[in-house]
Amino acid sequence: MLKIDHMTVAYHNIPTVLDFSMEMNPGQIIALVGESGSGKTTVIRAVMGLLPAAGKVTGGDIVFDEKSLLNDTPEQWRALRGSKISMIFQDSGAMMNPTRRVGNVFVEYIRTHEKISKKAAWEKGIAMLERMRLPDGDHIMRSYPFQLSGGMRQRVGIAMGMTYQPSLLLADEPTSALDVTTQAQIVRQMMELREKYHTGIIIVTHNIGVAAYMADHIIVMRNGRMEDQGDREQILYGSQNEYTRKLIASVPSMGGEWLKQ
Ligand SMILES: Nc1ncnc2c1ncn2[C@@H]1O[C@H](COP(=O)(O)OP(=O)(O)O)[C@@H](O)[C@H]1O
Ligand SMILES: [Mg+2]
Repeated sequence: MLKIDHMTVAYHNIPTVLDFSMEMNPGQIIALVGESGSGKTTVIRAVMGLLPAAGKVTGGDIVFDEKSLLNDTPEQWRALRGSKISMIFQDSGAMMNPTRRVGNVFVEYIRTHEKISKKAAWEKGIAMLERMRLPDGDHIMRSYPFQLSGGMRQRVGIAMGMTYQPSLLLADEPTSALDVTTQAQIVRQMMELREKYHTGIIIVTHNIGVAAYMADHIIVMRNGRMEDQGDREQILYGSQNEYTRKLIASVPSMGGEWLKQ
């Protein structure tokens, strides 16, 4: 479904992510882990076609559904975003305009993807919220972001991202701003997306506990390079890489134990 082939990304012509390669099948969950500044966000923004102005893919290729994305026009890329590929962020609420009601943002989002009336888009938004187990969707639609908890805002972000059932969901530290209990709920909800809709997920996290719980495959990033990668078990229990072992050792409770609280 997605293949990144020896990709290099530069900011201001300075290579920052180097020689990054990965392959992903439909419904697979891949975690990108590594410390802050290692290039995780850069990789997923490149896939989304959303690098900052100074950033550019300068080498390699990104192939999605057997077609290179790098030659896409901005319009083609825009059409892909939100339909086949969606992204959720660390704090979806912070991405929303604080002066606009959730529903207005959601309706506008839906209406950039299909020509339907505002009323129909509003109903569709509520239906999506309810599918993501947010009851009383009408009330949420009428709320301002600050009136919702961080966990609710994140679920709204996921609901929006899932509206068109993308085959690929890119999640950049989606639980990092949340308390542990809410983190666990959001992680479980993302796992359900894969079960119900067969959504492939790339989860970026500095929390290797989240990666251990969710991912089939783990890629460890360090200084813009792939330091280590392998299937979950191999990385968690069989890696010979010293850096990977140090990362794992720094987590007090592995294997998703923390999710049970
Ligand atoms: N807009 C930008 N301009 C210049 N350098 C950037 C920009 N965004 C990120 N970088 C650099 O790219 C590197 C990787 O950043 P990032 O992908 O955000 O890492 P991570 O998500 O792992 O914390 C960092 O050294 C950062 O300084
Ligand atoms: Mg980041």
